[in-house]
Amino acid sequence: MNAADHMQEDIRAVVRNLGADAHRFSGKTVLLAGGAGFLGRHFISVFRFLNKEVLSEPCKVLSADNFITGDKVALSEDSRDDPSIVSVWADITYPLPVREKLDFVIHAAGIASPVYYMKYPLETIEGAVQGTKNLLELARLNKGLEGFLYFSSSEIYGDPDPKSVPTPETYHGYVSSVGPRACYDESKRLGETISTVYQQRYGVPVTIVRPFNVFGPGMQHNDRRVIPMFTYEALNGRALPVHGDGIQTRTFCYISDAISGFLKALLKGKRGDAYNIGNSNNEISMADLAKMYGRVVPGSTVRFIPYPNTYPAGEPQRRCPDLAKARKDLGYDAKIELQEGLRRFVTWASERESYRGQPDG
Ligand SMILES: NC(=O)c1ccc[n+]([C@@H]2O[C@H](COP(=O)([O-])OP(=O)(O)OC[C@H]3O[C@@H](n4cnc5c(N)ncnc54)[C@H](O)[C@@H]3O)[C@@H](O)[C@H]2O)c1
Repeated sequence: MNAADHMQEDIRAVVRNLGADAHRFSGKTVLLAGGAGFLGRHFISVFRFLNKEVLSEPCKVLSADNFITGDKVALSEDSRDDPSIVSVWADITYPLPVREKLDFVIHAAGIASPVYYMKYPLETIEGAVQGTKNLLELARLNKGLEGFLYFSSSEIYGDPDPKSVPTPETYHGYVSSVGPRACYDESKRLGETISTVYQQRYGVPVTIVRPFNVFGPGMQHNDRRVIPMFTYEALNGRALPVHGDGIQTRTFCYISDAISGFLKALLKGKRGDAYNIGNSNNEISMADLAKMYGRVVPGSTVRFIPYPNTYPAGEPQRRCPDLAKARKDLGYDAKIELQEGLRRFVTWASERESYRGQPDG
């Protein structure tokens, strides 16, 4: 299969996982903040497919993005041929002048990659705090709103106590309020607090998701998160740079599993509750992840380097979700194994000029 086939198959998998619930989007309007981002563009691809093949009436999607890290060109390609998908420039840290009646709000705007939130700490805080409040205000005015999805992060757990790994939603976190990652972790935590206040005080139907390292086609070559970074280096014949001793672990969730989980949380999650979404089957150290590339990009090698200054210090040593709650309430489960996901991602990336160390074509 080539990358386009994989991506079609990924979208079909999301729609299959949603089952009859997908019809709840028929004739509805969704405000999608962060529509030009990695996750946002996948949501758009799924809505485009639903409009074309599944729904009796199209779902209108309004993407609001200020393109601080988003890919405007790719977004316009993703939404081509579908007049129901509208992209506007908007900064959610200002009130949004949306006049249309909204049925769903997905708040996936933010600065997600550590290198970029270190570069833009105040923008990161404002997006998660003031941006969340502005979107919740808009939601509050839409009396019939069916769902509001707030994207928090697994980083709200900080560096968890080993006894709390796999980490359940009830773990309260071990986070520094002044450390180099605080602009992200603490603002995501406050975003969760604001969301729950709006749910309790005004009845806004908020559900929170805490994603654990989602990856897949669509991540930009300069995203700087570990999988696009390793892939970029491997495809350019350079040794994969592992930070420190490489024993720090992560779990990686393939994009089609993650998007299924997020949409299930939007449609079926308990209001005011938070859900871990990830893949708990494949906790892996960064050294082993780099070695796994040898099976996906033959000939790739590994080098151990000190943490660069551009990368925020104090990264968590282990990260692995407890998914029992998402399984029970949402019927969520991750299906794609890490190596299979990597293979699909590398196939996609190797077809992109940008991953070949050349300018985008
Ligand atoms: N992808 C993951 O593995 C992951 C993990 C944990 C949390 N999250 C959270 O999920 C959300 C989406 O993640 P992603 O991977 O798509 O990130 P991304 O960086 O690829 O996309 C985020 C998008 O938000 C836009 N944006 C940022 N600030 C904005 C603002 N003030 N107004 C309007 N648009 C703005 C960016 O331009 C970008 O298009 C983020 O909030 C992120 O923190 C993602």
